[in-house]
Amino acid sequence: MRIRPAQPDDLPRLMELTREAFGPSAWSEALMRDILDAARQRPWLQVARVLELEYTPPLAGSFGGEAIGVDSPAAHAELPLWLAGYLIMQIVGMDAEIQSLAVDPRWQRHGFGHALLADSLSLAVNRRLHRLFLEVRASNLAAQQFYLHRGFEIYGRRTRYYHSPVEDALLMRRPVAPRAG
Ligand SMILES: CC(C)(COP(=O)(O)OP(=O)(O)OC[C@H]1O[C@@H](n2cnc3c(N)ncnc32)[C@H](O)[C@@H]1OP(=O)(O)O)[C@@H](O)C(=O)NCCC(=O)NCCS
Repeated sequence: MRIRPAQPDDLPRLMELTREAFGPSAWSEALMRDILDAARQRPWLQVARVLELEYTPPLAGSFGGEAIGVDSPAAHAELPLWLAGYLIMQIVGMDAEIQSLAVDPRWQRHGFGHALLADSLSLAVNRRLHRLFLEVRASNLAAQQFYLHRGFEIYGRRTRYYHSPVEDALLMRRPVAPRAG
């Protein structure tokens, strides 16, 4: 597993991933392209990081992914890297806002969301940022659990913030540096 800055040619896979993770409320391709451009041109303001795994997904329509046995020749060849998650964050003054975080549904609950968050936290520490903020759909209990277990607290609610479907946002934040004690 490795985490690296997103590149412009990650766009098609990022769109696939965001659509799988967010369905009808996924970002448009134009917005994602703008974010990737901003991250390349103004990396001190816009961060876009991707997580890759050594993994080959099963072909659509095949009967499950065949694991590569350790004795097969393919096991000794280098596996292609599969983009399995991303985190997008904007830096605003001394704080940062997580704008989007997603892990390939096939690879959720394997610690990869945590790895992406830890990577961005260490970037925030290096830049001496103070707090991380984010918004999450009120119905997205999985993401709320994820963030609550990682030092975030809910501090507010924004009514009818989301569309497709219309829904309130919960506002969450955490200090960049861990709390003492
Ligand atoms: C939220 C998300 C990024 C978490 O990524 P992940 O790789 O699955 O997270 P990790 O494996 O690092 O952490 C898993 C923890 O998150 C929480 N969690 C994740 N999925 C959950 C679910 N379906 N139900 C309850 N808790 C869940 C739990 O606290 C879980 O810990 P546990 O497995 O010990 O119970 C991922 O679920 C995702 O991409 N969701 C769709 C997109 C999304 O909602 N993004 C956030 C929008 S703000």
